[in-house]
Amino acid sequence: MNRFRISTPEGTRDLLFTSCRALRQTEHAVRAALEGCGYSEIITPAVEYYDVFAQANPELDQQNMLKIIDRSGRICVARPDNTTPIARIAATRLDDAALPVRLYYSQKVFRSVAGGHGHKGEFLQVGAELIGADGLAADKDILSAAFGALTATGADNFRIELGHAEIYKALIEELGVDDQTAESIRRLIENKSFAALGDALASYGERPAAKALGAMPQLFGGMEVLDQVEALTGNVRVIGAVAYLRRLYQALDEAGYGDRIMIDLGLVHEMDYYTGVMFRGYIGGAGAAILAGGRYNALCAKFGRDLPAGGFGMDVESVAESLQGAQRPEAATRSGTVRIALTKGRLEKKTLSLLKAAGYDIAELEAGSRKLIFALPDTGVEIVLAKAADVITYVEHGVCDMGVVGKDTIMEKGGSFYEMVDLGFGKCRFALATKKGKDVYGGYKTPVIATKYPAVTKAFFNKKNMDVETIKIEGSVELAPLLELADAIVDIVETGTTLKENGLEVIEDVAPISARVIVNLASAKMKKAAIQQVIADLESGLEG
Ligand code: PRP
Repeated sequence: MNRFRISTPEGTRDLLFTSCRALRQTEHAVRAALEGCGYSEIITPAVEYYDVFAQANPELDQQNMLKIIDRSGRICVARPDNTTPIARIAATRLDDAALPVRLYYSQKVFRSVAGGHGHKGEFLQVGAELIGADGLAADKDILSAAFGALTATGADNFRIELGHAEIYKALIEELGVDDQTAESIRRLIENKSFAALGDALASYGERPAAKALGAMPQLFGGMEVLDQVEALTGNVRVIGAVAYLRRLYQALDEAGYGDRIMIDLGLVHEMDYYTGVMFRGYIGGAGAAILAGGRYNALCAKFGRDLPAGGFGMDVESVAESLQGAQRPEAATRSGTVRIALTKGRLEKKTLSLLKAAGYDIAELEAGSRKLIFALPDTGVEIVLAKAADVITYVEHGVCDMGVVGKDTIMEKGGSFYEMVDLGFGKCRFALATKKGKDVYGGYKTPVIATKYPAVTKAFFNKKNMDVETIKIEGSVELAPLLELADAIVDIVETGTTLKENGLEVIEDVAPISARVIVNLASAKMKKAAIQQVIADLESGLEG
């Protein structure tokens, strides 16, 4: 039988019985909470013109949109986001009498996803937008609705973290760098890549903006974070944003939500979209943020009407799944455990020796067995042994809280996680190499590059604006140029012995490689103290 007749497209799934009931229960609870806060439902089309999203929200990656061609040949997309169509309606359909207006929606969003990653291509989002109002009262209104909605789901272990778009924007302007440098700094802050960010900012010396930007990935936790940033910079825009976050915190604390608030000044995603407060929500058991929102005063203007606006969207499917998971007996143990995925082999041995030096009992691991999960006695730490690429998969999905993996795998596979520490061991490099004396760049032929790392290779040559053909090889890549299959290779070079013994030489270094600590996005926030303890223990072993 044709498999397309009996299966569903990548990233989609059928929901039957218990799962369906659980989703509807969560959805109804959130809808009722939003209606109780005075928000009215609206429904927008499932299919919109591509231009609606391309112009208004360039942050949405066009590759991830599910495209449909209509009868006239225009490109439409299955709605990839709910806020943009609501901004379109606000700018074109609402008159002054209606403002400010509180709107909510309960509709699916669609994404085109690559296979094999377990990413969702379709999920139900319930969210609220407050259009035509600005300032503290409006932000409090939206955040209270978000807290109310999360409370209504019955979840007991949730948090919302606050950040502010002005902080990064003001500091990067003070530093005065070009757009490309600003974007690379923004990415390093977003991924909490402390070490690489330090290197990127090193040339700016002791300038206060550089010091404050360099600290941004670490500026997350409780309200003390706001004191820390004030000690780092006198930038009036930053001071203003911090004062605003304090007032917002106070207003939400008075409403009874103080205990559930965290701060993350390193929230720097979608910076052109957000104009003020930004926030994300987390719930125990979900490996990623289940709620995201903030103030986006510039969005409606893209549809022709300048209106302040703010709001949030909640991934109710992930919330419902976490609530179902929380009922399983192992959930309670998991919430008190830090599970670390180690890359089997050399990185595993070195990491374990660091843990041992810090006093962890790793006897069971040293004894050698075919076991894959080990609980370290009296520590609340579990070790999982996995292949490098799988370390990333387990951490990204939140079934492991953190991992130790080489930068080579991170560069090749990518993914959403924080890259928090460069452990400095497992050092080697990516390099472009070929047969001695061969000119890879000469002639008119498109060079053929053999590699185990096609994504790294493509990114390297893209930067050079060079078109190459890549051939994926699974092992001993050095054979490909020797057998005349390829003109050159991009591969890992450690001692250089393999190249030398096969008559090959390095033409150019591509990137340095070493072992990194990666941390799940939600675990970093929900298990901050325990994770930082493990990191401190690993680092103390490095110093010793
Ligand atoms: C890596 C790499 C090189 C070699 C480089 O291969 O792909 O072949 O190590 O090391 P060197 O510079 O010290 O000689 P690995 O041993 O992991 O095996 P593989 O080629 O079979 O994947």
